[in-house]
Amino acid sequence: MMTDARKKPEDLRSARWFGPADLRSFGHRSRTMQMGYAPEEWQGRPVIAIVNTWSDLNPCHTHLRQRAEDVKRGVLMGGGFPVELPALSLSESLVKPTTMLYRNMLAMETEELLRSHPIDGAILMGGCDKTTPGLLLGATSMDIPAIFIPAGPMLRGNWGGKVLGSGSDSWKYWDELRAGKITQQDWLGVEAGIARSHGTCMTMGTASTMTAIAESVGMVLPGGSSILAADAGHIRLCSESGRRIVEMVWEDLTPKRIQIHKAFLNAINVAMAMGCSTNAIIHLIAMARRAGHDIGLDDFERASRVVPVIGNVRPSGSTYLMEDFFYAGGILGLMERMRAHLHLDCLTVSGRTLGENIAGAKVYNDDVIRPLDNPIYGEGSLAVLKGNLAPDGCVIKPAAMDQKFLKHSGPALVFDDYPSMKKAVDDETLDITPDHVLVLRNAGPQGGPGMPEWGMLPMPKRLLKEGHRDMLRLSDARMSGTSYGACVLHVAPESYIGGPLALLQTGDIVEVDVDARSINMRVSEEELARRRAAWTPPPPRFERGYGYAFTRHVQQANEGCDFDFLRTDFGAPVLEPVI
Ligand code: FES
Ligand code: MG
Repeated sequence: MMTDARKKPEDLRSARWFGPADLRSFGHRSRTMQMGYAPEEWQGRPVIAIVNTWSDLNPCHTHLRQRAEDVKRGVLMGGGFPVELPALSLSESLVKPTTMLYRNMLAMETEELLRSHPIDGAILMGGCDKTTPGLLLGATSMDIPAIFIPAGPMLRGNWGGKVLGSGSDSWKYWDELRAGKITQQDWLGVEAGIARSHGTCMTMGTASTMTAIAESVGMVLPGGSSILAADAGHIRLCSESGRRIVEMVWEDLTPKRIQIHKAFLNAINVAMAMGCSTNAIIHLIAMARRAGHDIGLDDFERASRVVPVIGNVRPSGSTYLMEDFFYAGGILGLMERMRAHLHLDCLTVSGRTLGENIAGAKVYNDDVIRPLDNPIYGEGSLAVLKGNLAPDGCVIKPAAMDQKFLKHSGPALVFDDYPSMKKAVDDETLDITPDHVLVLRNAGPQGGPGMPEWGMLPMPKRLLKEGHRDMLRLSDARMSGTSYGACVLHVAPESYIGGPLALLQTGDIVEVDVDARSINMRVSEEELARRRAAWTPPPPRFERGYGYAFTRHVQQANEGCDFDFLRTDFGAPVLEPVI
């Protein structure tokens, strides 16, 4: 497949460290021998970094410590020299205030780890939500050959014989507990059974969305993103990726050769068909822009009109989980089904095209992976809305909400911070109706800070007791990919920097029309101008440290929340280090 001239050992990047007959290289060689490696083990061989986001506090990546050894086995078989480089592990469940604050830090770390060391190719190991985009953003900017290995979804949850889904069932049973429908004892059973193996969330949350995107954009070996973490096939994926990355170095098959503009259009379409997490939008825009392509909300809007949801996985679907999806044929089966919506000539890390990768893939369960003419949702899973509340756009997930809110108007009930909103919704005397629009602001990229996953605002206890399970909610936050409900998210520009959401007041009428893709507040221009003149910015979130740099450089949600200075078109390219 690859026709370009192959690299020679003396062309390897690492040869700059190890090759020359000078004093510096003497140091590099003697210090490598200090670790017990004989020159035969590295000389003339591609040095492969295994960038591993394993940590003792990342339950989704528990197995990656051992899996790195399986990758090493493959690299050695392929004739390379494997070295493991640990990187920031972003556990979605344990890192506060939100992993989104640190996605760009992992991206920077990945890029600089690869740049500063004698590395010729990289295996990227991650999967828990932000680790996937973080690793890929960094590897793309560095642009040496790289393969992403997803951690793989965990097994289905189980409680008293009932199947439990990550995230979704925590919200569901929490609401049941608050409504008095289950006991505290039941709740403890849910707690023990909802995450019972290593691996990432097994609903179509951000983890499974992003690993599917990583594969459809060409950066994962075929089928790799659907393999369960606990399946022996996952071990084989690791050793196979190790063998393949060595070959990719000789081919000089770099991320930017793979991640072309059309490859991102493929990823958007696959995300839509999977019933993806709303977070996909932010990460995909950032990834595409790092690869040098102008992808934006409009591309998602176009796709959402034409690509139906055929992956029947919760929370867009009502029953199945990633384990079912894997057994039903996984992502290769899904992509085969939707081949009419894909650019099949895009090259992938396998060295073959996407079309070649999916040729012959089968679907074994037509209810889990639906045919295009029998989708679970006729349009794509996400919709982009614009209007005087969100001039730069916002996002809703029509596939996972009560359809009666697709067109809705109602009075706003506005909160400026999460704690006061939380207190209010727990108050059973709260003056609220099912027609109200619950609003949280100051939860965006700078205001949150880091745009936390607060966007599935909790249902007011009073409405829950009255039997309501959904209402229109609005914020500049994100929400977990495992969440559901009529939640308008990612409002841009965010309120913290004075976006129009900052001007909304309790009692104003908010109008949402998903079919028309519009969102507006029924407030006159004159009144908005008056409020704008009276508006004062909230106090700064950070006055030192990483957060200080974050709030100064993070871009808005519609731009992917990348740092401005990490953009590919920001300044001259970074040169290779002086050795
Ligand atoms: Fe790690 Fe959901 S918490 S993938
Ligand atoms: Mg998540």
